[in-house]
Amino acid sequence: MSLSRRAWLGGAGVALAAAGAAWADEPPLRDLAAAKGLRFGSAIGGRSFGDAQVRALVAAQCALVVPENELKWQALRPAPGVFAFDRADAILGWAAQTGLAVRGHNLFWTAPKWFPAWVNSYDFGSRPASEAERLIVEHVTTVVTRYGARIGSWDVVNEAIDPATGELRANAFTPYLGERCLDIAFHAARAAAPRAQMVYNDYMGWEAGNERHRAGVLRLLGRLKARGVPVDALGVQSHLGPGDLPTAPLDRAQPEAWRRFLGEATGMDLGLLVTEFDVDDRGVPGDVATRDAEVAAYAKAYLDLTLSFPQLRDVLCWGLDDRYSWLQSRSPRADGARKRGCPYGEDLRPKPLRAAMAEAFRAAPRR
Ligand code: XIL
Repeated sequence: MSLSRRAWLGGAGVALAAAGAAWADEPPLRDLAAAKGLRFGSAIGGRSFGDAQVRALVAAQCALVVPENELKWQALRPAPGVFAFDRADAILGWAAQTGLAVRGHNLFWTAPKWFPAWVNSYDFGSRPASEAERLIVEHVTTVVTRYGARIGSWDVVNEAIDPATGELRANAFTPYLGERCLDIAFHAARAAAPRAQMVYNDYMGWEAGNERHRAGVLRLLGRLKARGVPVDALGVQSHLGPGDLPTAPLDRAQPEAWRRFLGEATGMDLGLLVTEFDVDDRGVPGDVATRDAEVAAYAKAYLDLTLSFPQLRDVLCWGLDDRYSWLQSRSPRADGARKRGCPYGEDLRPKPLRAAMAEAFRAAPRR
């Protein structure tokens, strides 16, 4: 029996016994990915981190993890000048014990609603540009320095482009710094961890409706590169499905536009990561088997195309299981049913999406 299977049995023997042996001998996704030079991982945090069965599943399947919320300003920064590291430390401690690598998410999430309230009403004083810069540098330097060599890749800037316009989102810092607030974050991160990978992360998708968002992200990356800002890679979140639409079927993919988009990003000498993969099935009608098959086929097509880029090195799910997926508290399905957008179900058993991911890794070119 493999080590990882033992780890899984240790944490979730009941689920395994109930599932029977058919899938239990499947190699972990980590191994299938590693055979192609890829790292496979997942977000974990909050309630999912509190569930021993989920921790065991993640330990069995993943090579790396990313704290789902624990490294964000809202979690780390209850008040100006104050840092609260306990919850992030708990995940980092477990990851170290378990032999999992860690990604950091995120240092500067640009929309005001993702900053703590005190930032949005902050008094920047009589020299607002220098105070704004000081605040960003203080935050980035303190957080990145604390985790030093333990976090090898950071989402430095998250979602800076407004999908509706393709332009920079405004926040408390932009009146004083404009787009330079992003440069400041990247430079501070690089200075604090010179060997870590610095990532621009966003949710521009392959579906129709993302044209402006994709174009805006490419323009931003071009400007960052032209200014010599240390951005090493593009994180494609990969929340497949309706995105911000109230509902939509899984039939709006634009594979050629997506190939061009990834080609242009990698043409700027950027690496690629899939940072937050899942499939929102709120627009998919039918019974569970129909939905699962559609979700799996859609994801397989996306992964096949995206994995064809050898610059892609990491693939992370935004949670392995439907039990705690953020999709459950996003826009609900019309029929009120729970969503099924992760590779493992509510019962933590693998679903067709898990098989599709395994197949995509098996079919991927080696890098
Ligand atoms: C989400 C978390 O999953 C939720 O628990 C939280 O309430 C809001 O943020 N893009 C990102 C992630 O970059 O940080 C988001 O995570 C999902 C979308």
